[in-house]
This record gives sequence, structure tokens and C-alpha cells, in this order.
Amino acid sequence: MKNKIALFFIITALSALLLGVFFGLFASLQYIIPDFLKTYIPFNKMRPFHVTTVISWIVLCATGCIYFFITKVEQFQLFSKRLSKAHFILFILTGIGIYISFLTGKMEGREYLAYTPILTIPIVIGWILFGVNYFKTIGKNVKNWPVYYWMWGTGIAFMVYHLCEAHFWMIPSFRAHFIKDVSVQWKSYGSFVGSWNMLVYGIAIYLMSKIKKDSTLAHGKTVFFFYFLGLTNLMFGWAHHTYIIPTQPWIRYVAYAISMTEWVVLAHIIYSWVKSLSAEDKKKYCMVYKFLKAADFWVFINIILALLFSIPVINYFTHGTHITVAHSMGTTIGINTTILLAAVFFIVQKSLPNYNIDSRFIKRSYVAFNGSLFFFFCALLYAGAKKSNWMYFTKDVHFSEMQDGLYYTYIVFFIFGVALVGSIISLATILLRALLKALKN
Ligand code: HEM
Repeated sequence: MKNKIALFFIITALSALLLGVFFGLFASLQYIIPDFLKTYIPFNKMRPFHVTTVISWIVLCATGCIYFFITKVEQFQLFSKRLSKAHFILFILTGIGIYISFLTGKMEGREYLAYTPILTIPIVIGWILFGVNYFKTIGKNVKNWPVYYWMWGTGIAFMVYHLCEAHFWMIPSFRAHFIKDVSVQWKSYGSFVGSWNMLVYGIAIYLMSKIKKDSTLAHGKTVFFFYFLGLTNLMFGWAHHTYIIPTQPWIRYVAYAISMTEWVVLAHIIYSWVKSLSAEDKKKYCMVYKFLKAADFWVFINIILALLFSIPVINYFTHGTHITVAHSMGTTIGINTTILLAAVFFIVQKSLPNYNIDSRFIKRSYVAFNGSLFFFFCALLYAGAKKSNWMYFTKDVHFSEMQDGLYYTYIVFFIFGVALVGSIISLATILLRALLKALKN
């Protein structure tokens, strides 16, 4: 295999996943033992270490998969290998920069982009390099674009814009206007997630159409309807994240309706594909099939949760509790990670056709992954409900008493967290080993 950039991206992504879940595990241990590692990495640093590393897993893996699909499966000549190398090196160096920024306490950024803001410049440059390479390559080789090419192109282009937008707060006149500042900040985060969703959902549709060997699946009306819905959601879906901001109510309702419809359509697309797949294809791509089926289940679970907590009166009680964390982790693990694991299994099969990915151990890890995630998710919902009860329905109970009351819930959360980490380690190491072998070929 001559051009190895795609595999480098995916191998780095899997390493980030392994590292990131350990940060998550340590953060969950700090719920139970607040002094655990406190002198070195207190919770307010452990959390960004965890969140940044697992988001890097999603973004790097999606990027690697796209490079792989266009160069190795579609066999297109990449516009510039040099640009792809520069893209990879830039992201690696920036990743190191972000860790240094966290370790040295230079965390002047905000929320999910807590690192020192100057590091956003190389990240944006990396996305521009990717964009140039992507559009030049696809533009030259494909006429009638299937939906996944639109989705990937849109994800890349909007990623550049929203990363810039997330830093508008650095302009003093912007910061001076509180409502504008908070609205745009949350809008950009919603759109940032919307952009990586475009990449990941595009990958899901790509996998489905390749496995079924049915190109019409990626040209049909339903998938293009899904694309435009996703695009609208990317631009306006943020509004239901900002119930506390005094904006026009209709904006929130429209945004809410769009994001729910988007998930219903995605669930429908995967469900119809699962139903229509032949027994032979299910067997041939058994792990890809299983993970996509699991993603469908997690879309369904997250629709129920999001439908409930997006109702303003319920949102009032769930805001700022672990219910929001359940939503974030339920979607980033249950939907994004699951689709990406399906994609990496597909890539392993394409790179090493004789590699055994049908072992009992892999199937057990798959069951452990979904089972532990379910109880992990439920523990977060329970902790959120208890906290909400404390916030709104109890009087004269101190925060520390409420935290003590959640002690056993945190232990349950930690135990299922350990099981989840165990299953992720098994899956990621198997995939890593296979990809390292593919690198040598
Ligand atoms: C693929 C794996 C994972 C992904 C993609 C992921 C993603 C995330 C995200 C996006 C957040 C931010 C939540 C928010 O701001 O609402 C978060 C927070 C957190 N995660 Fe994870 N996570 C993963 C695995 C884990 C594991 C295995 C554990 C523990 C065993 C864990 C523990 C935590 C904790 C304790 C927080 C902080 C919650 C708080 O703010 O109180 N995560 N994670």
C-alpha cells in the first residue's frame, strides 16, 4: 500500500480513542474519590483532556475513512499527496500543542474548545488543506455526485467556517453584547457537531451502498432529503440548545422539529437497509452490519431522550444535569463511534481480505460494548434526575449532601464505565493490530 496517510489517520484516531476513554474513566473516578490525581490533573482539566481526545477520535477517524474510501476503494488519484501529509503532520503537532496547553494551564478557550485559541489556526489550515484535496480530487473524477460526496464536502467546508465562528467572542465588540455572544457561541458548537455528523452519516451511507452494491441507495430522494435536513440542522439546529437565551420561540421549535426529523430519517434509512440486505452480505460484512444495526438502535434511544428533554418545561429541569451528559455521550459513543467502528471493520476487510474479524472474541466485545453502554447511559440518566430533584424540589440540602447521595450511582456509572472501556480496548486493539499489519503490506 503506497499512500498510507488514510491508515495513519485511522491508527492515530484509534490511539486517541484508547487514551480518551482512560481520561473519561479517571474523570468518573474523581466523582467517587475527588482527590484522585487531583494534584496532577484535577477534574476541570481531566474533563477537557477526555472530551478533546474523544472528539479527536471521531474527527480523525472520519477523515482517515474518507481518504481511504476515495483513494483505496474508489481508486481516485489524490490531487496532492503532499497536502495530505501536511494535513496529517499539522494535526499531530496541534494535538501535542493542545495537550501542552492543558498541562500548563493555558486554557483561555471556551467550553469544548478550551485550549489556547491560537491553536485553532493550524486546525483551520488543516481543514482547508483537506478541503482543497477533497474537492479537487472528487471534482475531477465524479460527475453525478452520490449523496455521501455532498455530505463530506459540506462537512469539511462548514467545519472551517464554524471553527472560526466559535472564536468570534475574541472580537471585543462581539463580547460586549452578552446575548449575541452566548447565542453565537452555542450556535457554533451545534454546527461544529453538525459538521462532523455530516462526515460520519455520509460514511454510514457510503458503507451501506457499498455493501449492498447498490449505487441508487446514495442517489435516491430519501437520502437527499436527509442531506438537506442535515444541512438545515447544521445551520439552525443549535437553537434548541439555547432555551435559556431569550430568542424568538418559533426559531427553537423549527430547529427542534428539524433535528428530530433528521434522526427519524436516519433511523429509517439504516432500518430499511438492514431489512433489505441479503444473508450473504450480512455474513460477509458481519461486523460492519452489526455495528450499523447497533447505531440504528442508539439513534432510536437518543430520539426518545432528545424528544423528551427538548420539551421546554422538561428542558428546564434537565439543563445542567447528567441528563445532558447522557445525551452527549449517548450520541457520540452510540451513534458516531459505532458507525466509525463499522467503517474501520470495513477498511480492515478491504485492506486484509483474509483477516479473521469474525471471531467469538470480537462478537463478545461487541455485545459487551452495547450492553455496558446501555447501563452506563441509564446511570447518567438516574444521576441527572436526582440532581434535578435536588436543584428544584428540595430545600436546605447542601451540594455536598446531594453528591454523597449519588455515591452509589457514581459507583454503578464507574463499573459500567470500566466494562465499556474494556470492550473498547478489545475492539480498538484488534483493529489497530490489523491496520498495523496492513501498513506493512
Ligand atoms: C468513545 C467513548 C467516549 C466518548 C465519545 C465520550 C464523549 C464525551 C463527551 C462529548 C462529553 C462531554 C459531555 C457534555 O459536555 O455534555 C463527555 C464527558 C464525560 N465523559 Fe465521556 N465519552 C466516552 C467515554 C467515556 C467513558 C468510558 C467514561 C467513563 C468511564 C466517560 C466519562 C465521562 C465523564 C466523567 C465526563 C464528564 C461529565 C461531566 O461534565 O460531569 N466517558 N464524554
